[in-house]
Amino acid sequence: MKDQILTLQAEVLAAISAAADAAALESVRIAYLGRSGSIPALLEKMRDVPKEERPIIGKLVNEFKTTVNEAFDSRKNALQDSADEQSVDATLPGRTQPYGSLHPVQQVIERSLEIFRRLGFAINEGPEVESEFNNFDALNTPKDHPARAEQDTFYILENALKPLGDKEGRRLLRTHTSPVQIRTMKTWQPPIRMVAPGRCYRRDEIDATHLMSFFQIEGLAIGEGVTLADLKGTLEYFFRELLGQDLQFRFRPHFFPFTEPSFEVDCARATKPGQPVKWLEICGCGMVDPQVLLNVGLDPEKYSGWAFGFGPERIAMLRHEIPDLRTFTENDVRFLQQFSKIG
Ligand code: DAH
Repeated sequence: MKDQILTLQAEVLAAISAAADAAALESVRIAYLGRSGSIPALLEKMRDVPKEERPIIGKLVNEFKTTVNEAFDSRKNALQDSADEQSVDATLPGRTQPYGSLHPVQQVIERSLEIFRRLGFAINEGPEVESEFNNFDALNTPKDHPARAEQDTFYILENALKPLGDKEGRRLLRTHTSPVQIRTMKTWQPPIRMVAPGRCYRRDEIDATHLMSFFQIEGLAIGEGVTLADLKGTLEYFFRELLGQDLQFRFRPHFFPFTEPSFEVDCARATKPGQPVKWLEICGCGMVDPQVLLNVGLDPEKYSGWAFGFGPERIAMLRHEIPDLRTFTENDVRFLQQFSKIG
């Protein structure tokens, strides 16, 4: 009996390791372990073993079963692993990770800051929740100015946050980035060259040309003997770098409470002779009003300066001929992907 077991064990183990694939292994299993296989047949014979030999033979049979089962399992796993390896098709195209990209408005902001950095401007940022003083009073905007009305500006509930001092007034979501001028002049020493990108808020009805939240880029230069010629030269250089060297400019007199004189800058692409020039308004600017300098403790006899502000959304619309502002905030990947080229 003992010899029979050992012979069968050797035979089964050899058959298992010879099985070349899962199907062959399965036929080995059926031949030896199946209902009419040779292992159950051998176990049948246990009955004829004399009583005194049973413990020894029984132990041998158990070891035999364990060995055979383990051999089966490990062969099965080995065959599975090599099948997995063979199923890798190296000729299939690779799976690429889709690249993310900057939003078209963010692209304009980054490119603008890059140009201003080259011109020696430092970047500053202010909070989106501002004081009424920084957003309006310090910028020479009178109490009865329409921009201050509650239907134009988002005010923060008085008791929702720690109240500010009397002079700072109420808190609000800033309506422009111009308060960063005030914050900068209060804390930096002239000469100042500063640009401030950031989000602004207004209680506008949303349509193709208005959003209730949008971006601005503010600029400020303060020093001794700073003139309007510096402002013109800087803005023309900047917009040509940003949008193309063929741009022409027009500085139209305008009014802003915090600059005097004030201008709106229009630009146009060069056209063929005889074709009409199409002017587009792109920027507000002017010489910092002496009263604003006084408001932040600077001596207008000693210092002069200029400021400007423009909307990067507008520049992105111009650059890509986008007709509707709302597409910038809808987050439709099909729209955004059109501006995703890297570099
Ligand atoms: N803050 C103005 C606005 O939101 C834009 C502006 C105009 C900014 C003239 C300036 C400036 O710095 O000098 O409409």
